[in-house]
Amino acid sequence: MLNSVNQPAFFIFKCQQSAPPGMPKPSCVKADAPETAELFQHIAQSLMMKGIIGTVTPVQTGCLSRCGQGPVMLVEPGHTMYVGLTKEKIDRIIEEHIIGGNVVQEYVIPDELWGEPVAPASIAR
Ligand code: FES
Repeated sequence: MLNSVNQPAFFIFKCQQSAPPGMPKPSCVKADAPETAELFQHIAQSLMMKGIIGTVTPVQTGCLSRCGQGPVMLVEPGHTMYVGLTKEKIDRIIEEHIIGGNVVQEYVIPDELWGEPVAPASIAR
């Protein structure tokens, strides 16, 4: 009989994009806010401390196209985009959403910036 390896329950995609020095565009990792560069490690460490890393897999990504709202991260499944992140907010999201199963609505991106997805089949040439 085969042993099975469980798939992750969640992936957390953390935008790690920084704007080049001198570029006015906002970004999730900010040169003038060094703590924004530490958020991915904070996620990984928090998941490790809780003993849930693996079943919750953190992934570093480039730009997720919501730069003005950064730092941001996307939780899948659920398509939940969290914005304006700090270490404290991440701790609450892990506790209440990832472990508790309840999305932390007050940190979710506003609806007007996160409309329904467009089906690729409806726009493909
Ligand atoms: S730089 Fe993070 S969403 Fe664009």
